[in-house]
Amino acid sequence: MAEDISQACQDAASMLRSLPRSRRIRVVSHYDADGIAAAGVLCTAVYRAGFEFHASLMRNPFTKGFDRLKSEHNELIVFSDMGSGQIETIESFGCKAIILDHHQYLTTQTSKNIIQINANLFGADGNYEVSGATLSYLFATALDPGNEDLAPLALAGATGDKQFIGGVRGLNKTILENALQKGFLTEQTSIKLYGETIEDALYYSVDPYYPGLSGNRQKIETILEQFNIQKTTPIKEIPPEAMTKIHSYLLFLLLKAGCQQNIIDMTIRKRYIASKGWELERFADLLDACGKNGYRSLGLSLCLGDGTTWKDALQVEKDYKQKLLDGLQALEHGGIQETEGLRYFYSDNSSLGGVIAGIAMNYVLDEKKPLFSLTRKEADDEVHISCRGNQQLVMHGLDLAAAMKTVAGELGGFGGGHKIAAGATIMFGKEKEFLQKVDLMLVQQMRG
Ligand code: C5P
Ligand code: ZN
Repeated sequence: MAEDISQACQDAASMLRSLPRSRRIRVVSHYDADGIAAAGVLCTAVYRAGFEFHASLMRNPFTKGFDRLKSEHNELIVFSDMGSGQIETIESFGCKAIILDHHQYLTTQTSKNIIQINANLFGADGNYEVSGATLSYLFATALDPGNEDLAPLALAGATGDKQFIGGVRGLNKTILENALQKGFLTEQTSIKLYGETIEDALYYSVDPYYPGLSGNRQKIETILEQFNIQKTTPIKEIPPEAMTKIHSYLLFLLLKAGCQQNIIDMTIRKRYIASKGWELERFADLLDACGKNGYRSLGLSLCLGDGTTWKDALQVEKDYKQKLLDGLQALEHGGIQETEGLRYFYSDNSSLGGVIAGIAMNYVLDEKKPLFSLTRKEADDEVHISCRGNQQLVMHGLDLAAAMKTVAGELGGFGGGHKIAAGATIMFGKEKEFLQKVDLMLVQQMRG
């Protein structure tokens, strides 16, 4: 294994360069914002280096996607934002592979054909310091320093994985500082409010979610009337004094909801704008909406700079946010069950369930227990589980990835992820047993 990440990226770049330019490189990434941004960085870098590419964005537990990969004849597959947890299957393909991952790894040993660049193997914290997209950026710049202009895309990925909560750290920070210095990004302190009008911006605000206001047109109208602001006013045209009133009111709502300080700090903060005009978190939201709402390739096309798809993505995002609002409002009105170590609810859509759990954890429920979303997929004989914690619980010993991996594994399923956000897939009949075992394990973790 190489000594540090940059050497490992150089080795990986040499592996790619050893292939004739006529070859098609297979790019395989995760379907969330970080994974889509990572694929965007890789496809651009590979294409600029003179290769063709074929990209897929996959979803856990990756079984169907990997079956497809197995039937293909690839010379080199580059995995990003995934791969470390699937290393055994990747070894079985027998082709060359580069893995750029920040999830927990299973082994440090790989065959000569495979270069595993997992952030956690090189002393970096894969939860907060480097994401799938920022690792992909390190590989892309090792391939050609001219790929530095991909930093905004890479950092949008890290933002999508919420790596900026508590401040920008580690390799993400190094990449950010370089991008600011070179003018690929500019800095601005502001709140996250986007949409055509102020009414839309408030209505579709899901992260932050303002309990009582988000998704509630009547309440939004009343508040805007009080502040003497026309609801159809475009955000940019709102006078500074009126905007200050809106900011104060929104912060008040978050305080009233009992949000943790690090979440409140994320609301009004330094934000970074790419030269194309988009702010990092705004772009990450758009990618996330495309990925989770069934339009993965639309998300990738945004990353590849296809400006013509922006409008379509905005519509996909609105539909997606409406679904999240419906789910969050349902949770606000009950529907959550509780055990000693966790809370859980049922969701019809497993992709959305995880997102709703994450938002509810930060803005709706108290911070004492992690929140699980369960989706029963009877036709597939499966139950999908997504779970979300917070930084405070992690500090007290919470490790959702370990719980998901161990318990799902014991029951013949798959699980993993991060300490703060993880997931699992188990057999349909195992749900009750799964919840009991996870509950026990989480109680133990929290006892430390
Ligand atoms: O699916 P969801 O968004 O809830 O996944 C949260 C995290 O858990 C992701 O990082 C994902 O890679 C991981 N996960 C996993 N194995 C699963 C499901 C999710 O490692 N079966
Ligand atoms: Zn990621």
